[in-house]
Amino acid sequence: MPDSTPKKITITNGGPYMVEDGIPIYDHVGNPIAATGVYYMCRCGGSSNKPFCDGTHAKNNFNGQEFASKDTSANRRDTYVGDGVTIYDDRSRCAHAGKCTDNLASVFKMGTEPWVDANGASVEEIINTIRTCPSGALSYTRTEDGEPEEEAEGPGVTVAVDAPYHARGVEVVAGDGESYDVRERQTLCRCGGSKNKPFCDGTHWYIGFKHQME
Ligand code: FES
Repeated sequence: MPDSTPKKITITNGGPYMVEDGIPIYDHVGNPIAATGVYYMCRCGGSSNKPFCDGTHAKNNFNGQEFASKDTSANRRDTYVGDGVTIYDDRSRCAHAGKCTDNLASVFKMGTEPWVDANGASVEEIINTIRTCPSGALSYTRTEDGEPEEEAEGPGVTVAVDAPYHARGVEVVAGDGESYDVRERQTLCRCGGSKNKPFCDGTHWYIGFKHQME
């Protein structure tokens, strides 16, 4: 029987992410950067060898303290029930990639309250848009209050341009050894500035984080 235990990314206190063997790493267009072995990936934003750690965190006053909730997503999320689809929104995991507001503004209405209209587009359009949310803040179910439907794509980590690591199908283990709730899609801070570490909160954009990929 295949092992269904998720592969792990473990946070080292004050240092990089330790990526377990068997989690491939890809660049922003899907080319593999690393396939096998344990990798240490930059978390402070200062490495000269991005996306890998070069020890800079020990010299640039990096504060890697984690602030993210370890509660379950079910306890954090808001629920918006529409005809044929229910949208879940876990604000505490949003990386502000803008895939929802940019691509389906009739449902995801920036600046209005409530900001989600689950009847603002077809079920198919809503599902297709939510599937592009890299952080997993948005999810959906086709029943009224079921578990989110998530397509298994992992394990893997994609290094986004000037933006966070897009992790899929992995378990993130905190520096204290406790795991965050396992979700299919998660965005991990790599600029060093998130106030919701280890997850991205969009700060990379405000501080002008740069790691232009070739
Ligand atoms: S990568 Fe650090 S906040 Fe997004």
